[in-house]
Amino acid sequence: MRKPVIAGNWKLFKTKNEALALIEELAPQVKDVDNVEIIVAPVFTVLPSLVPATAGTNISLAAQDVFWEEEGAFTGEVSSRMLLDAGASHVIIGHSERRQYFGETEATVNKKTKAALAGALVPIMCIGETLDAREAGDTFKVLETQLKGGLEGLTASQFAPVIVAYEPVWAIGTGKTATDDQAQEAHAFIRGVLASLYGQETAGKTRILYGGSVKAENVKGLMSCADIDGALVGGASLKAATFAPIVRFRD
Ligand code: PGA
Repeated sequence: MRKPVIAGNWKLFKTKNEALALIEELAPQVKDVDNVEIIVAPVFTVLPSLVPATAGTNISLAAQDVFWEEEGAFTGEVSSRMLLDAGASHVIIGHSERRQYFGETEATVNKKTKAALAGALVPIMCIGETLDAREAGDTFKVLETQLKGGLEGLTASQFAPVIVAYEPVWAIGTGKTATDDQAQEAHAFIRGVLASLYGQETAGKTRILYGGSVKAENVKGLMSCADIDGALVGGASLKAATFAPIVRFRD
């Protein structure tokens, strides 16, 4: 059985005090939830302050990006070793906003994924097609290219901890969710590509999250799909009132 993951991507929101207030409100509302991995991803500067706030809770911390070198003359970057030091256990890699605004490619996603794994961080590797690609019938081609490019050179055992997030770009922050069937179709395809790379057993254990306008109202349907193992939540993760019910999708 794959343990579901519900991860909140706070993007460029929440100062330290705002983040602390959110954790203080969220933690008691989800403390009895077992068999779901709960993760929140604040901005880098807020990570260390959330370590004491999440200690003893069932909430883990993720960073939203990582650089591939461990240290050196790379002004403005943060390495996996530093993220681990700051309290992160996971890191989001290759989010579509990073691909769109910061020039990330399969090659950078690949280097970052390898660096995260080498630094003992669990990568949450994001892939997803744009609306143009979907309308052109290229969804599977894009997913396969992003997946294979991002994972290039990893053996099955190296890949094993990786969490994949399928986020159709047209569904992010737009209020347009993929239908359960559209999402399941993409997830099944992704698992098939993973099986071709790493074998059925490894692919069968990989958590594949859906992301794109996930909310309390649609999470149950998505989570009932055979190949959907969790959610990467943006907007609805910014308030305990909207995130807790997603974490509690089984209620
Ligand atoms: P959204 O964002 O839930 O606001 O659509 C999802 C994401 O970008 O990870």
